[in-house]
Amino acid sequence: MATVSFRKIEKAYGPVKVIHGIGFDIADGEFVVLVGPSGCGKSTLLRMLAGLEEITAGEILIDDKVVNDLESKDRDIAMVFQSYALYPHMTVRDNMAFSLKLRKADAKLTAERVDNAARILNLGPLLDRFPKELSGGQRQRVAMGRAIVRDPKVFLFDEPLSNLDAKLRVAMRAEIKALHQRLKTTTVYVTHDQIEAMTMADRIVVMHDGIIEQIGTPLELYDHPGNLFVAQFIGSPSMNVFDGVLQREGGATAVSALGSLWPVAGLRAGSHGQKVHYGIRPGDLTLADAGIPAEVVVVEPTGAETELLLQIGNGATAQQLVLVLHGRTNAQPGDTVHLAIDGAKAHVFDGQGGQRL
Ligand SMILES: Nc1ncnc2c1ncn2[C@@H]1O[C@H](COP(=O)(O)OP(=O)(O)O)[C@@H](O)[C@H]1O
Ligand SMILES: [Mg+2]
Repeated sequence: MATVSFRKIEKAYGPVKVIHGIGFDIADGEFVVLVGPSGCGKSTLLRMLAGLEEITAGEILIDDKVVNDLESKDRDIAMVFQSYALYPHMTVRDNMAFSLKLRKADAKLTAERVDNAARILNLGPLLDRFPKELSGGQRQRVAMGRAIVRDPKVFLFDEPLSNLDAKLRVAMRAEIKALHQRLKTTTVYVTHDQIEAMTMADRIVVMHDGIIEQIGTPLELYDHPGNLFVAQFIGSPSMNVFDGVLQREGGATAVSALGSLWPVAGLRAGSHGQKVHYGIRPGDLTLADAGIPAEVVVVEPTGAETELLLQIGNGATAQQLVLVLHGRTNAQPGDTVHLAIDGAKAHVFDGQGGQRL
């Protein structure tokens, strides 16, 4: 078990800076997910923690000890990659035992550790098979087994589920989460998939272009995104966002946009006339008998929910919004519907920097 700290971490490849001073702490036993679009520096940060990549500036600490100059093998971490990186000529058992053999661990201890990991991951019946005789999901479990066998201070995962089909990905997601609940090993997990981040993390670190946009629990980020980037990155379908002007008159607050007044509640910052972005999640838009008129463009029933693509206004100023309805609707493309909005569900961001107001 261990804590991890990043302090003012920078990384440059030659003249190109890709990490611009990142700092945060991970508590003992915590499951932290680094999420962000491809190329934002997630793998680079993880590889610096693993000791696979040099740190240009700043410090990384494991258990309050600076590890910058410690070799990867001495950091007591285990990493699981997207490509499972199993040795093809070794059985599952030998793949899992390999790192302990390298360390010249006692044979009995090695066998015990392998058996224990095999039990946790249901790999028992597969121990004598070779990687080519396994499915993708089974290979990924072996890669995890190999990490467990080492009983490391910290687990690192870099997009471990990206090569699996959608159904298996969901199953493995739950398996990794259950594994963490059982072992409680400090874990840093990298993904570009915000749903993976939301469902697995104790805390999420949202990265973008080599900086941290926001850190928080999944629901903190969902309910109170600190800026426009996080607002649109977290949540699926994405938050609806459009430009407007803040109206503060007679104690009431609203945003005028797309020819209507959009309600806002509980907003302290922001002044009358300020340019803003108005955000509302698809699930927070509701249909009503009266309200803001919108035209139905597409109706997508998925059973439990119905997704509606709506258009507000015509011509150059038209804006499309997504509405998710729990249940079903008779609305058809071409129909006019009306939107009712709870102002407490609105998110308002500064029109310049995109910070939450
Ligand atoms: N070995 C390398 N040499 C030069 N540039 C690199 C190298 N590895 C990564 N980069 C660059 O660093 C940035 C961050 O990459 P990476 O950490 O792999 O992003 P992510 O994992 O978030 O997709 C990207 O712009 C990428 O092109
Ligand atoms: Mg990566």
